[in-house]
Parts: sequence; C-alpha cells; structure tokens
Amino acid sequence: MNNPKPYSILFVCLGNICRSPAAEIIFKAMVKEQGLEGQIESDSAGTIGYHRGCPPDARILAALEKYGYSNPGLKSRPIRKDDLEQFDLILGMDRENLRNLKKMDKNGLAERKIVPMCFFATHFLDEEVPDPYYGDREGFEHVVKLLEDACSGLLEHLKKQMNP
Ligand code: 4NP
Repeated sequence: MNNPKPYSILFVCLGNICRSPAAEIIFKAMVKEQGLEGQIESDSAGTIGYHRGCPPDARILAALEKYGYSNPGLKSRPIRKDDLEQFDLILGMDRENLRNLKKMDKNGLAERKIVPMCFFATHFLDEEVPDPYYGDREGFEHVVKLLEDACSGLLEHLKKQMNP
C-alpha cells in the first residue's frame, strides 16, 4: 500500500539565517523524537535572497546548541512562488513576513495556508517571533525558547489533525 504524501510545512522569515532555520531544526528534532518523520516534513525559506547559500547565523546556532540542538548543515534559500502551492502550511515569523507572503499569493489561493508562527505558541504571549539580527544573545535565546513553544503546539495540532 502506498503511504500518503507527508504533510509539509514551510517556515518563513526575512533572511532564512536566524528564525526560520531555527524553527526547522527544532521542529524536525520534535518530529523525529515522536517517530513522525514519514508523516510530517518541513523546510524553511526567506522572503529575501540576500543570504542565499549561507549557513544559519553563528549566534542562532550557539543559542540552539545551548538548548541541545545541533546544526544539520542548513543553507539559506529565498522563497519561490511554487512553495505557496507545494506546502500544506506556511508559517511566517513576523507581520512583515506574513505581509510579504500574502503579497506573493496574488490569486489568494494560498491564503488559508499562511499563518503566524505564534498562533501555535501555548505559553509565550508574543504575537511575533522577533527579529534577533541586530540584538544581543538574550534575543537569540528568546527566539529559541519561543520557537520551542510554538513548534510543540504545532506538532500537537498536527497530531490531532492526523488522528482525530
Ligand atoms: P532572519 O534574521 O530573518 O530571522 O533570518 C535576519 C537575517 C538577516 C537580516 C535581518 C534579519 N538582514 O538584515 O540581513
């Protein structure tokens, strides 16, 4: 019997070197821990191509390492038009990312797939995953903790959807 196509999630921020690769790393670790790798897949992208091909920022990697996540060797890539069709759920880190995603979705066909990442947070009250790029170490660590909360809520949501 053929397995159904895995549910696919795209995490999106501005540069795809801080927040969205961190979300991808954290979420993939949670999916793996729960043995759901064949059922849920994820990727990340940026709304700008400026950092194309670059690894995640050393400061987010240091914060991730502090909380037990290692670097799987991700590389930044800009979002493509066909990502809006290909992925089942597209999570924007902040309002600007969400605005840019909605602008790309000219015919509105992906409107219901484009959702704020913080929608899935259950402990943190943040409405956006703040851009840590020009901030300090605490800012990067806050991003990791907030993403752990949101990724965990997202995974619980998906598990309920898959096994109602
Ligand atoms: P990210 O962070 O969107 O979380 O990857 C940023 C990365 C790069 C820049 C800003 C934010 N930048 O201005 O180049």
